[in-house]
Amino acid sequence: MDFKDEMKNRIERTEGIITRYLPGGEGYGGRVIEAMNYSFMAGGKRIRPMLMIETHILCGGDGRLIAPFMAAIEMIHTYSLVHDDLPAMDGDELRRGKPSTWKQYDEAMAVLAGDGLLNLASETALLAFDLAESAFDTTLVAEAMKLLFYHSGINGMIGGQCADVEAEKSSDVTMEQLIYVYKNKTAALLRAAMDIGALLAGVDDETLIAIDRAAYNVGLAFQIRDDVLDVTASEEELGKPIGSDDRNNKTTYVTLEGIESAEAEVRRLSDEALEILRGFTARNEFLEGLISYMIDRKA
Ligand code: IPE
Ligand code: IPE
Ligand code: MG
Ligand code: MG
Ligand code: MG
Repeated sequence: MDFKDEMKNRIERTEGIITRYLPGGEGYGGRVIEAMNYSFMAGGKRIRPMLMIETHILCGGDGRLIAPFMAAIEMIHTYSLVHDDLPAMDGDELRRGKPSTWKQYDEAMAVLAGDGLLNLASETALLAFDLAESAFDTTLVAEAMKLLFYHSGINGMIGGQCADVEAEKSSDVTMEQLIYVYKNKTAALLRAAMDIGALLAGVDDETLIAIDRAAYNVGLAFQIRDDVLDVTASEEELGKPIGSDDRNNKTTYVTLEGIESAEAEVRRLSDEALEILRGFTARNEFLEGLISYMIDRKA
């Protein structure tokens, strides 16, 4: 089977796992639940839950605790996009090939749907405690919770989004500031994904540090690729508006260093990540393929 078919299969399998945790509900609060489901099911690539499970497999995990975390990280990622598209942030009207949540519903509902997804992520991740079969499992779940909420909070994704919107006001953003933005707004969640996968497999500290390093590189490369695509891809390919960064006065790796240099940095970072992963005794070829796809992707 070629990588594309395998990817399709694994996305389907991942969706089968993560959609189990979606809420149903009607009545006076029903609209926010509808907006949450709309955003979550709009057709993302599901990269974070896939990185989590594939890293877990690489590290010899048996998957007994991981499903709630796969769903929770995709909920957090989806909420970050719902808010990121709001007029108060990037002001984008298209996401995953569909009207972004605030366009489909309204701004209030997009704020609430994002809040709802974040809260649901906590409720969902906590369900992993019910799956614990030993005191060791309970500790693993608690450690995984810490990682998830550390990386998605003020020292991770939210901190990065803060620095990103602050930088819009400035015309002399430095490379150091830019790396802070990338490290936090994007790499943090990818680190959470891979680190949780490894942690729940019960790896030692040295392995966790190596996985985290690979994830950091993948995260930076992924965001630089996203910035390149914002300039070079088409709206049909991406399913989101192109030129968003320029419209929002964003400084990116592309505006600072040019496309060629950005592409070279993407390659350097991803080669380093793949080298780390290939250094383990066990191999997961699909994980390596997934990372190459994330970096080479046209959409
Ligand atoms: C988009 O992430 C936001 C970035 C961090 C660049 P993805 O490209 O993973 O978005 P979806 O989930 O596939 O829509
Ligand atoms: C990543 O940055 C956003 C998040 C952390 C939510 P972008 O603003 O570049 O992401 P896209 O291009 O809108 O997907
Ligand atoms: Mg943004
Ligand atoms: Mg955006
Ligand atoms: Mg972007």
